[in-house]
This record gives sequence, structure tokens and C-alpha cells, in this order.
Amino acid sequence: MKLLVTGGLGFIGSNFILRTLEKYPDFKITNIDACLPGSNLKNLPKLNKKNYTYVKGNITDKKIIDKLISKSDVVINFAAESHVDRSISNPRPFIDSNIIGVYTILEAIKKYKKKMIQISTDEVFGSLKSSSANEEFVFNPSSPYAASKASAEILVKSYITTYDCDVIITRCTNNYGPRQSPEKLIPKVILLAGKNQKIPIYGTGKNIRDWIFVLDHCDAILKILFKGKKGKSYNIAGKNEINNITIIKKILKIIGSSKELMHFIKDRPGHDFRYSLNSEKIQKELHWNPSYTFEKGLEDTIEWYIKNMKLYNDISLKEITTVSWKTR
Ligand SMILES: NC(=O)c1ccc[n+]([C@@H]2O[C@H](COP(=O)([O-])OP(=O)(O)OC[C@H]3O[C@@H](n4cnc5c(N)ncnc54)[C@H](O)[C@@H]3O)[C@@H](O)[C@H]2O)c1
Repeated sequence: MKLLVTGGLGFIGSNFILRTLEKYPDFKITNIDACLPGSNLKNLPKLNKKNYTYVKGNITDKKIIDKLISKSDVVINFAAESHVDRSISNPRPFIDSNIIGVYTILEAIKKYKKKMIQISTDEVFGSLKSSSANEEFVFNPSSPYAASKASAEILVKSYITTYDCDVIITRCTNNYGPRQSPEKLIPKVILLAGKNQKIPIYGTGKNIRDWIFVLDHCDAILKILFKGKKGKSYNIAGKNEINNITIIKKILKIIGSSKELMHFIKDRPGHDFRYSLNSEKIQKELHWNPSYTFEKGLEDTIEWYIKNMKLYNDISLKEITTVSWKTR
């Protein structure tokens, strides 16, 4: 199978490429990535050149997307501006990558009659008090990031209905694991605690997310690639709802750092309190379930960052502690 993976230098895309080539060494993967925030060239070292090609390019570039999609069987679209804080200070790149980029891919898969998997997020459903969103839940995005991902989904649905395009949408909860940008909560806490630096925490730190180990997410996407039904969407949950403070305390305990490093700062605007997905559909129809417990996943993650600290040497502590929704 010839896969076009977009955004493969980012967190989930790079893990997906490594996982896929490990499980299916005969697959050929082309990765297009524009090296934007979230990317790290060092995320994919030493891959076999025969079955992996990297193209530096933007998914909004019609010419390059047309060429790559015409030569692929399936495109899996991970590429996106993904940091909510950045979307508050400057929404424009989110509109470009997350909406125009998806439009560009849709036009190409329509033209060449190819299959697409659009990687979306639980954030399209907004903050939920107690319920868990199933696939039919109403969208209620809060941030420009979430709104751009919801817009992309609506556009995808219109191409399914109007042009009979072969697209599946996946929505996942918060991922954690190796190769994530240290702007995000878990790597940020590990790296700061490792250097005995203060850890900024938004508001009360009680915001709840459902956390999934990134390889569980990758395996769910592979199941969907082989067994998912054309035109459908699948929610992917880790079934592990936990608040930020609890996660930070767990990391500090594993690393052996003091709780005194925790430092509360002003909350970001529109900070959703809780996200939650119901993923019974993928469990029942595709027999997928997360395999990592949070304890095991977190320990593996911490061990990986400690071993690979050198990948983050050129990132300044200021860069990861600055409150990006205010200053960019
Ligand atoms: N991280 C999570 O917890 C999570 C949860 C649910 C869904 N998602 C979705 O999964 C996908 C991947 O998320 P991630 O955490 O790996 O993000 P990331 O920020 O780590 O990586 C995104 C990658 O996309 C690339 N990119 C962005 N815009 C591009 C463009 N216009 N053209 C080419 N490349 C471009 C970046 O350079 C980067 O390498 C996103 O679509 C995100 O919305 C993420």
C-alpha cells in the first residue's frame, strides 16, 4: 500500500510512520510536512529510504498535493496547526493549514478518486459537563483551533455527500508519548522538572482531558485504514479522564521532583473545562481498545524524554514557559 502521510514530522504523524513501517515493512510512505510549529526533523531519523520519502511542502500547495496524491493509494491527513494557545494569539495559520489545506487535499482525492482519512479531535464538541460525545454529537468548538478542525470536518462531509468521496473522519482525545513538541503539557512538565524549573499551570489546574498513549491512537488509525467504513466517523478515546494537576503530580513523583515547582498562572481565555468522547462504535465495530494503562504509558514517556533530552537542546526554557496566547 502506498500511503501519503501529511504532517509526519509532528508528534502523532511521526509515531504513526514508525509504527506502520514496523508492522507493515512492505508499505511505502511519503511524508509531506512544511516544518511548521510542532515539527521536528529529528523525529524521524535513519528510516529505510526504499520505503520512506520525505517531501518538504505545504498541504495548501495544489501542485505538489496533486502530484503526491495521484501517486498514492490513501492520504492520512495529520498536518495541522495544533496548539490552542497559538490559535488564540494568531488564528490565521489555523485557517490556512486546517481548512484550506483540507480543501486542497479534498479536491485532489476527488480528482484522482483516492481514499482519505482526516484526523480530527474531541475538541470539536467543546466543553462537556458530564456526558461523553458520540459520533452524532453537536459541534460546539470554543477556540479558533477547535473551530478550524470542526470546519474541516464539515467540508469533508460535504465532499462525501456531494461527490461521493471516500473519506473517513477520526476524532481522538489528548495524546501523550514520545516526540511531542515541548510546548504541550506532558513533555513541558518532564523537561522543566528535569531542569528543576518552575512549571506554569493555567488557572486552578483542574481542567479534565481524556489521555491516550500515542501508539494506541496509531493502532486505531491502522484498524480504521483496513476496516473503517467509507464516509463514516470514529471516536477514539483513551478512557482515562484525569485533571492537569493530577498528571503534573504523577510526573513529579516519578521523576523525584518537588511539588514546590508547581506555579499557578492566569488561565487562558475560553479554556474548556472537560472533553470526553464515547468510543463504543470503534470498540464494537472494529474491535479496537486502548492497550496502555496511563501508568505504563506515562512511565515509558518519561523514560523516553529523559533518554532523548538532546533532541530538545536547542529549545530555550523561555520558549516553553512563555504564555504563548499572550505574547505571539
Ligand atoms: N496531539 C493531540 O493530542 C491530538 C488529539 C486529537 C487530534 N489531534 C490531531 O492530530 C493531528 C496531529 O497532531 P499533532 O499533535 O501530531 O500535531 P503537531 O503540531 O505535533 O504536528 C503537526 C505537523 O503538521 C505540520 N503541518 C502543519 N501545517 C502544515 C501544512 N500546511 N502543510 C504541511 N505540514 C503542515 C507541522 O509542520 C507538524 O509537523 C492534528 O490534525 C491534530 O488536530 C491531535
